[in-house]
Amino acid sequence: MAIIAVAGRKGGIGKSTIAGNLAGEFAETGRSVVVLDADPQHSLAAWAGQGEGVLSRCVEKVAVGSGALRARARKAAKEADVVVIDTPPGMMDVAYEAALTADVLLLPCGASPMDLFAMKDVLSLGLKARAERRSKKPRIRFAPSRVMLSTNLGKGLVSSLEGMGKKVLPAIGQRVVVAEAVVSGLTVVEYAPGSAAREEFRALAKAVWKLL
Ligand SMILES: Nc1ncnc2c1ncn2[C@@H]1O[C@H](COP(=O)(O)OP(=O)(O)O)[C@@H](O)[C@H]1O
Ligand SMILES: [Mg+2]
Repeated sequence: MAIIAVAGRKGGIGKSTIAGNLAGEFAETGRSVVVLDADPQHSLAAWAGQGEGVLSRCVEKVAVGSGALRARARKAAKEADVVVIDTPPGMMDVAYEAALTADVLLLPCGASPMDLFAMKDVLSLGLKARAERRSKKPRIRFAPSRVMLSTNLGKGLVSSLEGMGKKVLPAIGQRVVVAEAVVSGLTVVEYAPGSAAREEFRALAKAVWKLL
């Protein structure tokens, strides 16, 4: 079982981007992947529909509520090497359902103080899911996202997050190629395999895999 959920209270911080590109990286290393798009906005499914890349073969829309997401995730985990769940912003009940089934809970965070303020809620959600499961799962990690690595805010993000008590994964920078890949319906590894963005997603995927 390898279920990874991506969650956060805020929209636009890169949850779907991280979910999709992790799927791309796992597929690149020969693993079978299912991506469950549990956001009613279905941005991952829309991204997948833009082209004929990895995402077009592994993204599946999933209805939320009444335990459907958990049931689908568990079944998918028997069929595939890794399951990635993308959750909607705001609807913390869906994020909670994902946290109840995930092995790893990724919490993307941007570098602005507003982004940091929003992390407390989603961190407690993860901890609450662990308490309910009476388990060390999900393992919880912060994932710096859309970071301008050369700015002071960007540089300070890792220590701010560490101060909240959870380990921090390798950062994903704010890079044009990340958004461009979406236009073509591709993940970054497919669209720009030699790019710095690709190296960042590779490092992130490697670090996440180690947790499983
Ligand atoms: N690392 C990045 N560099 C550049 N643009 C990004 C990056 N991550 C996300 N984006 C863009 O920011 C917007 C919001 O990202 P998205 O993944 O949809 O966020 P969320 O799922 O948290 O709402 C999208 O237009 C996406 O293409
Ligand atoms: Mg999203």
